[in-house]
Amino acid sequence: MLRTIRAALCVAAISCAAAAADDDSISLSIDASRPGAKIDRNIFGQFAEHLGRGIYEGVWVGPDSKIPNTRGIRNDVVAALKAIKVPNVRWPGGCFADEYHWRNGIGPRDKRPATLNPNWGGVIEPNTFGTHEFMDFVQQVGADAYLSINVGSGTPAEAADWLEYLTTPQPTALAKERAANGHPQPYPVPLLGIGNESWGCGGSMTPDEYVNHLKVYARYARNYNTAQPMRRIAVGPDGADTGYTEAVMKAWKNKTWAWDIEGLSLHSYTVVKWPPSFKATGFGEGEYATILKATLNMESLVSTHSAVMDRYDPEKKIALVVDEWGAWLAPTPGSPEGFLEQQNSQRDALVAALNLNIFARHADRVRAANIAQMVNVLQAMIFTKEEKMLLTPTYHVFHMYVPFQDATFVPVELAAGSYKNGDIELPRLDAIAARDSGGKLWLAISNLDANRPANIELAVQGKGVSRGAGQTLAAPRIDSVNTFESPMLVKPRPLAARANGKKLTLTVAPASVSVIALE
Ligand code: AHR
Repeated sequence: MLRTIRAALCVAAISCAAAAADDDSISLSIDASRPGAKIDRNIFGQFAEHLGRGIYEGVWVGPDSKIPNTRGIRNDVVAALKAIKVPNVRWPGGCFADEYHWRNGIGPRDKRPATLNPNWGGVIEPNTFGTHEFMDFVQQVGADAYLSINVGSGTPAEAADWLEYLTTPQPTALAKERAANGHPQPYPVPLLGIGNESWGCGGSMTPDEYVNHLKVYARYARNYNTAQPMRRIAVGPDGADTGYTEAVMKAWKNKTWAWDIEGLSLHSYTVVKWPPSFKATGFGEGEYATILKATLNMESLVSTHSAVMDRYDPEKKIALVVDEWGAWLAPTPGSPEGFLEQQNSQRDALVAALNLNIFARHADRVRAANIAQMVNVLQAMIFTKEEKMLLTPTYHVFHMYVPFQDATFVPVELAAGSYKNGDIELPRLDAIAARDSGGKLWLAISNLDANRPANIELAVQGKGVSRGAGQTLAAPRIDSVNTFESPMLVKPRPLAARANGKKLTLTVAPASVSVIALE
């Protein structure tokens, strides 16, 4: 009881230090003299599929909407995404991508065909948001386009035409059509996914069948925009199965001059069992611990697939691109079937931070990732309701982690012991550190323990440090969420380290995520 009250005081940021006073200090040491790999900003990528209210309502409201917009794209959503410096957005799917025919989404909007979206509720797809609208959206956000081409139900010629339409600066018929549709300049396509989940909704192909398709598409889906390189990402594993990893990497190792790739995708959601049944809010500590444990499995997945990749590619030329990750929970009661709407709690903030920490620790191989999904779907950054918008706890983590974009990883040593709940034992704390391009050192700490605040004593080698300040994301309860009635319940608050002689000490609340700069 005493502990609960102390934890509650600590969440309210009144007296974390007092609340933690009966705990021994935890030593955390950062070695700034041993810089590691660059944490590619692309690991903070987003995923926007034509699914539920992810695009329509979430991004696109149309130029005639009373909701403030620029050429049909919501201004509030663009501003929020700019603030988290979204590096890339993956589009149009997902499973949707392998049934998407790009020609339906160009030309006058009132002439575009209505098609179906069989994967996601069987709803009508108006094709109002197509190639030009997406490119306008990413340019407004300042993000790179990550397009997924249709390998499942499309043809190599269709994909080749889309790439020529997008990227050629020469006056071909397709370039003229692009210009007639409002964009004479070629578009940059920095990332290209060659299919999506070809082992599942993208065609149920065996690894060898997919490799045969990959060689053809990687040859003909060309980038003609020499000003902007394009990295091609092959479909890779579903979770722990290394079949696709082996087949694609072996094919790449033996490739001819005629094709190439620069990345291999990995999809893995935090989902304990199918269909997803863990509640998004109103859950207890047991479910909290179970979800965090499932999240930490990402470490073993990344290590397993990296080890296979190392055998074929010891120079790490091919990036592992975790382009679908996040918590997939039971849908919000009453939400439309197939819309994948779920609330987003303080627990999900920890899910996000733990995954980002794993990607950062594997920065030499994991060089892009995309949380699923950006707005209104799965572990979203943003919820919209007509003209209202709210930011989720996950959004706040992405905001706090902005300094880690393109920063240099530096090792952290931590002996924090464990957090136990029933049969589940997890690390009590998880932390990463990095040095930004200005030389500033940043530390991110997640306290997984749902009950105990942690007193941390910081030691930094290789750099004099005398103060630390930043932000912490804590909440009254592990299942606290932001709602349209109470949109600011979970939000970052200031956090400072205390100077204690030559050391810095810091106290973090239970179930919290904190990021501080050390100067
Ligand atoms: O993100 C939702 C779906 O999950 C995607 O469409 C698909 O690729 C994955 O199975």
